Amino acid sequence: MSDQFTQADAAAQLILKRTPLRPRIGLVLGSGLGAFADSLGDATRVPYSEIPSFPQSTAIGHAGRLVIGKAGEVTVAAMQGRVHLYEGYSAQQVAFPIRVFARMGIKAVILTNAAGGINLGYSQGALVLIRDHINLQGTNPLVGPNDDRFGVRFPDMTRAYCKEYRQVAREEAIKLGITLHEGVYAALLGPSYETPAEIEYLRRIGADLVGMSTAAEVIAARHMGLNVLAISCVTNMAAGILDQPLSHAEVMETGERVKSTFESLLKAVLPRIAHEVGG
Ligand code: HPA
Repeated sequence: MSDQFTQADAAAQLILKRTPLRPRIGLVLGSGLGAFADSLGDATRVPYSEIPSFPQSTAIGHAGRLVIGKAGEVTVAAMQGRVHLYEGYSAQQVAFPIRVFARMGIKAVILTNAAGGINLGYSQGALVLIRDHINLQGTNPLVGPNDDRFGVRFPDMTRAYCKEYRQVAREEAIKLGITLHEGVYAALLGPSYETPAEIEYLRRIGADLVGMSTAAEVIAARHMGLNVLAISCVTNMAAGILDQPLSHAEVMETGERVKSTFESLLKAVLPRIAHEVGG
C-alpha cells in the first residue's frame, strides 16, 4: 500500500486528466448545500467511485462526486458531498480529498456545512462564518508519522480560518443584504445528535455551533498551507434549545430553503478569493 502523498498525487492526476480546467479554489459542499455544483459551467463530473483511494460518502443528501467547472469566471473544484468520521472513516480518510485538492494545485478551500445553532442569537436558516473551531472528535488527521511533503509535524492553528477571507465574506454579505453571523464551531463525532446537557456544555466552553464535519478537513488544509473559509448553515437550533426533537429531514429542508441565499454569497465571494490565489 503506497503512502497517502502518493495516493493523493495519483488521484489528483486522474482528475486533472479529465478536464482542461485548472482550479485554484476547492469547495466542499455539505448536507443540503450541494446544489451549487450543479450550476457550474463547462463542468466535468467525476464520481468519487472513479477516483482511486477516494472515500465514498454514504450519508443521505450527499451526492458523492467532484465537479470541476466555472462559477462565472472562476474555476473551482467542488465536492458534492463529503465523508464523515461517523460513517466509520478514519480522520486521514476524511481529510484525503483535501490532500487531493492540494496536489491538484488548489490554494484555497471553502468549506460549508450544516450545523446546529447553540448561540441564541441565531435562528434556523442563519448563515454563520466560522471564526475558529473546537475539535472534540477525539482524533486528528495528522495522527501517525508526519509526512513532511504535506507539512510540519506540529502545524499552527491560531489562524486556521483566514481573517482576510472572513472580511471578504462579511463585505459581500453586506452588499447582498445577507445577515452573516460569526462563530466558533464545535466538531463532534456523531452520528447521534447531542443531548441538551452536551449542548449546554458546548455553550459554556465557547461554541456557537455544533456539527460533525469540517475540523479534520481544516486541520489537513492548514497542515498543507491552504487558506480556509468556512460557512455553516444553521439547519436547526441545537438540542434542548427549542422544545422539539431534531431530525435529519429538518436539516435537509433548511439547507434547501437557504440554498439560493447561500449560493449568492458564494458567487460573490469567489471572484475575490480567486483574485488572491491567482484563479
Ligand atoms: N448537531 C450536530 N450536527 C448537526 C446538527 C446538530 O444539531 N445539525 C446539523 N448538523
